[in-house]
Amino acid sequence: MAKVTRTPLISGNWKMHHNHFEAISTVQKLAYLLNKDDYEVVDVSVHPPFTDLRSVQTVLEADEIPIALGAQHCHWEEKGAFTGEISPAFLAKLNVTYVITGHSERRELFGETDEMVNTKAKAILKWGMTPIICCGETLDEREAGGTDDKVAGQVRAALAGLKPEQVAGLVIAYEPIWAIGTGRTASAEDAQAVCALVRATVAEVAGAEAAASVRIQYGGSVKPSNAVELMAQPDIDGALVGGASLVADDFAGIVQYHAAG
Ligand code: 13P
Repeated sequence: MAKVTRTPLISGNWKMHHNHFEAISTVQKLAYLLNKDDYEVVDVSVHPPFTDLRSVQTVLEADEIPIALGAQHCHWEEKGAFTGEISPAFLAKLNVTYVITGHSERRELFGETDEMVNTKAKAILKWGMTPIICCGETLDEREAGGTDDKVAGQVRAALAGLKPEQVAGLVIAYEPIWAIGTGRTASAEDAQAVCALVRATVAEVAGAEAAASVRIQYGGSVKPSNAVELMAQPDIDGALVGGASLVADDFAGIVQYHAAG
């Protein structure tokens, strides 16, 4: 099998933070802090709330900032009577590159099911964008020894019906729910073990080549101080960052893990 180099992807999921003025200012600060050396070795994306997307797109494009625009969610239909929802076609029109699907907050708080995550992943791909598919276990599931079953099950369900070449281009984010926003991070060893399981599950459903190409992010209290160790793990190809991505200095510090030490 040909050796595949996976360019790391560091993504900032801003969740419901930063209005469009704050978003512009954060992106401008980030552009000031990051440089050519960073963009050469790391792909970077920011995922602001929907109401900020057009403003952030304009800044990124006008200033030729090589940060990819991302969204946090979308509907799977192109159009229709879905009050409050956002079409993947609208996101594609704004040059959105990555769309998160199946974030644990959407699963837990808004009833997003495995089936919906799969349907959304297909819609995101149909519109030429890349899904970032999230998976992860709760603290109870972890303590009961159920991490592997939960995560592998979510990955299998999310990938159902996708072609191996589509799977190869995906991003999967392993986010243990107990580590999100809590300041608790999975140890690099534990995170690596689950990310390896995610890759093995991808191999099982889509073949070894797709598994070698798919990018797997870790998410859950990633900070500049733990990014180096996490990113050194062989099956961790990036980070999905919440809290620390809201502050340009912290997010830049994470992206610059590659220059540390
Ligand atoms: P925190 O980095 O705040 O733990 O959030 C992780 C996350 O949910 C990113 O999607």
